[in-house]
Amino acid sequence: MAKTKIICFANNKGGSGKSTTCSNIGYALSLQNKRVLLVDADMQLNLTLAFFGEEDALSFAKSDKNLYGAMMKGTPISECIYQTAYPNLDLLPSSTLMSGAEYELFTKWQREFVVKKLLAPIVESGLYDYILLDAPPTLGCLVMNLLCAADFLIIPLEASPWGLFGLANMFDFLKEVQQISPVLSLMGVVITKVDTRKNYYKQTLAALEELENVRVFSQIIRLDSAIEWAQDNSKPVIAFKKGSRSALEYVELAKEVAEYADR
Ligand SMILES: Nc1ncnc2c1ncn2[C@@H]1O[C@H](COP(=O)(O)OP(=O)(O)OP(=O)(O)O)[C@@H](O)[C@H]1O
Ligand SMILES: [Mg+2]
Repeated sequence: MAKTKIICFANNKGGSGKSTTCSNIGYALSLQNKRVLLVDADMQLNLTLAFFGEEDALSFAKSDKNLYGAMMKGTPISECIYQTAYPNLDLLPSSTLMSGAEYELFTKWQREFVVKKLLAPIVESGLYDYILLDAPPTLGCLVMNLLCAADFLIIPLEASPWGLFGLANMFDFLKEVQQISPVLSLMGVVITKVDTRKNYYKQTLAALEELENVRVFSQIIRLDSAIEWAQDNSKPVIAFKKGSRSALEYVELAKEVAEYADR
């Protein structure tokens, strides 16, 4: 049995496509017959909303059966996992209290490894091929926890004038995390929300190529209104409109991700 691979989607820049990429890669991997657990670690509940309606997302968020409940209230992790509408794809939802985790973690023993420890029984059970973690747009103790639990980091980066701004902080943070969790590696940067009519994609790519040891996925994700329609219907775009441009791009990106993770 292959080891469960844990991939964290993080970028301190907000709105860079983390939740969209996490949800669609997760769904695409499940279509490849991989068993996938999605973990929503953001109080915005976006990853949960990608698969469930608002009513369900809020009811998970208000109960103790979510990531916050597992981290802070001792809810057994197995009780916090919900089946999505799709085979091979489960979700550990977030809570609106998740922002408080940042401060509450400070009083915890081995505070960087709280998430790693609570995921350990799931990893040991071998129930999933992949666990995908959707991080909030911050660089604090919570994201430190997510990265310390992960084997790989994927950075979704928006092709925009401000997309690159602050990326250096993300790389510095990664180096810090790698000092306490050397297994973590950067799988790559995926350039998202690309508007091919504008020049920002080329500028972004050129800037990334100047950086050492930074791999960029060959598949880019272009701007596509189908993404927003899909999210409005609580579905990944691949399920909502499978022939749409972004659906095809995410299917290809997921192949690159699986190839890299399984090599
Ligand atoms: N390829 C795309 N085409 C069009 N809209 C997109 C695309 N990717 C993402 N979006 C939209 O951009 C917004 C931000 O995307 P998303 O929520 O995935 O980013 P995020 O990095 O998770 O944000 P946050 O930092 O707030 O968690 C959303 O409204 C989403 O619908
Ligand atoms: Mg998000």
